[in-house]
Amino acid sequence: MVLNTVVLWVHILGAIGWLGAVMVFGMVVGPSLPGLSGSTRVEFSARVLPRYARYIEIFSIITLVFGVAMVAVITDGDFSMMSPSTPFGLYISIGAVLSLVPLGLVFAVVIPSAHRIAGMSEALMKTPGPPPPELAAASRRLRMGSMAGMALLILVTIFMVAGATL
Ligand code: HEM
Repeated sequence: MVLNTVVLWVHILGAIGWLGAVMVFGMVVGPSLPGLSGSTRVEFSARVLPRYARYIEIFSIITLVFGVAMVAVITDGDFSMMSPSTPFGLYISIGAVLSLVPLGLVFAVVIPSAHRIAGMSEALMKTPGPPPPELAAASRRLRMGSMAGMALLILVTIFMVAGATL
């Protein structure tokens, strides 16, 4: 019972941290960046994006690892509970499989783009000049990966809550 509560708590903490960060970045920070001066934007990208990438990396892994641990604790070896013939098994399984897509986006798109933007911004801080075209392309990839990840994570949360409560 205590183990169940602790694992669920960490799983939900991970989910709040992951989805919350993606939402704040996608809906508040990202849209505010074009309004900043070029040098402020460059400094912000160089200093904040590597930390953001590390944060997303940690919270997405915590969510997934403790989600799988949750299944292990709840089922206690009897995986019939996870059968898609029960609402619990069906919704949690759909949510879990679906969550692999935003996880893939984090590691294949969001983190590499964030590091690329931070690297180019660092170079621009040392040697100011016109931003390279790859900077705009990487920013576009970061924005699109983040928005797609956010939409999918909201969907995953709907399935998780439906599975746990229906
Ligand atoms: C491999 C991936 C995942 C697995 C195996 C998994 C597994 C689970 C399980 C078994 C529960 C039910 C706990 C219970 O009934 O007490 C649960 C709850 C929950 N999950 Fe996941 N999960 C995964 C990914 C995610 C993701 C990516 C999110 C959102 C970002 C998420 C958000 C939630 C939330 C909010 C609950 C609590 C629902 C409630 O108590 O109303 N999960 N998860």
